[in-house]
Amino acid sequence: MDERQFRNALAEYATGVTIVTALSKSGEKIGMTMTSFNTVSLDPPLVLFSVGVKALSLDALREADAYVVNILARTQENLSNQFARASSDKWAGVHHTEGHKGAPRLTNAIAQFECEPYACHEGGDHLIFLGRVVNFRTSDTAAEPLLFFRGRYHSVAGPRIDVDAWPLPLHY
Ligand SMILES: Cc1cc2nc3c(=O)[nH]c(=O)nc-3n(C[C@H](O)[C@H](O)[C@H](O)COP(=O)(O)O)c2cc1C
Repeated sequence: MDERQFRNALAEYATGVTIVTALSKSGEKIGMTMTSFNTVSLDPPLVLFSVGVKALSLDALREADAYVVNILARTQENLSNQFARASSDKWAGVHHTEGHKGAPRLTNAIAQFECEPYACHEGGDHLIFLGRVVNFRTSDTAAEPLLFFRGRYHSVAGPRIDVDAWPLPLHY
């Protein structure tokens, strides 16, 4: 299998952009930009994200008592880039508050899911984290999400669906 072509095919799947944050056992703030976030279960309330095994934050994330999935707004592209670089100054100038069990909550995220670890599964060169949501919030504003598609950031161009067709007869 050609890895480049595989990556390109995967990039056809548009996603939102999140930053997963946590407080390490030694009291250090952890943060990673993550598009692998997804919904899993309503009852119990579970979400997932997968972390590359080479990530410097991996061990701290595995040990953390809690983490927050921060869904980014369109205006937070710089924050996404800042938290995608493996460096010690990811948190420079970043506004946040203390969330569940000390996990940082990023200010101006359009939604946040505060989680406790539920399970962690091996997934090839990634580890799949399942988090049990203990708390969530959405922003009061009509802020637009930051999207990621074909390796670039995008915004929601506007409604392009026939609204009369909704709700569709699907469980989503
Ligand atoms: C748009 C975007 C999405 C990303 N999604 C993921 C992801 O889902 N899982 C992951 O492990 N790394 C992902 N990364 C890369 C990590 O953000 C980056 O490797 C990480 O912040 C480095 O963390 P470290 O300092 O712990 O090594 C993504 C990067 C970008 C720019």
